Amino acid sequence: PLYKSFVEGWPRVEAFQARPDDLLIATYPKSGTTWLSEILDMIYQDGDVEKCRRDAIFNRVPFLEMKVPGLPSGVDLLEKTPSPRLVKTHLPVQLLPTSFWDKGCKVIYMARNPKDVVISYYYFYQMAKLHPDPGTLGEFLETFMAGKAAYGSWYEHVRGWWEKKQEKQLLYLFYEDMKKDPQQEVQKILQFLGKKVSEETVARILHHTSFQEMRKNPAANYETMPTDLMDHSLSPFLRKGISGDWKNHFTVAQNERFDRHYREHMAGSDLHFQMEV
Ligand code: A3P
Repeated sequence: PLYKSFVEGWPRVEAFQARPDDLLIATYPKSGTTWLSEILDMIYQDGDVEKCRRDAIFNRVPFLEMKVPGLPSGVDLLEKTPSPRLVKTHLPVQLLPTSFWDKGCKVIYMARNPKDVVISYYYFYQMAKLHPDPGTLGEFLETFMAGKAAYGSWYEHVRGWWEKKQEKQLLYLFYEDMKKDPQQEVQKILQFLGKKVSEETVARILHHTSFQEMRKNPAANYETMPTDLMDHSLSPFLRKGISGDWKNHFTVAQNERFDRHYREHMAGSDLHFQMEV
């Protein structure tokens, strides 16, 4: 399942020509895409905070398959972006335009535990107006588990990209690890990119990309999106930024049902998630 207007733009996405030095940021929605994007832009700008304020995050890191009336599409933005480009996608691995593989682009995938994803998504469905009414949380949990939320099955998404790691230049990160030890995760990213930066720069990156800093930064918090697309008065884009918020929302019965479903759908995989940190 995908937004109707995105589907209309699909032919140009499928035919998208990646450049060898593109870096792809891939995630299932609500998994820390914006956080990872801000970290990567800071790395690309050598920790220069002012340069990272040059534009909103959705323009600095264009969203490949994005197409909504009245805004330039992701492909339009990318065609105008000078190299080296950072590219955001939520596509499941099997739908990624083949050019990214043909050109040998590096990919960073970030995954987040599904209980926090579904809660974050539930609030996002309410504030981001492309979505239908999610109904009650109980109803939305069923939509999510059935793979009927936008971008489809979370299970297939995280597993599909995890398996791709065997054959491609792909760094697979977890939101929970980033919460626990952001410095270690930033070092992993730097190593993957083959970049060296000073300790002082790393400290600046960590400070600028903390939840508190990003939340008040109009270039990172999506406040500059037209309100008919995102209504922050219903729920801010940078909402809580914690691991384990699902505990404030799931009933005991919902949690048991979710756990059963999770076990069935993750069976046989060596991919494991931390439901809290
Ligand atoms: P919550 O709704 O749980 O707060 P995405 O960018 O993929 O849409 O993900 C959005 C989620 O990432 C939101 O989760 C948001 O608050 C969280 N997030 C964004 N920036 C963050 C940061 N610097 N630290 C921690 N979480 C962050």
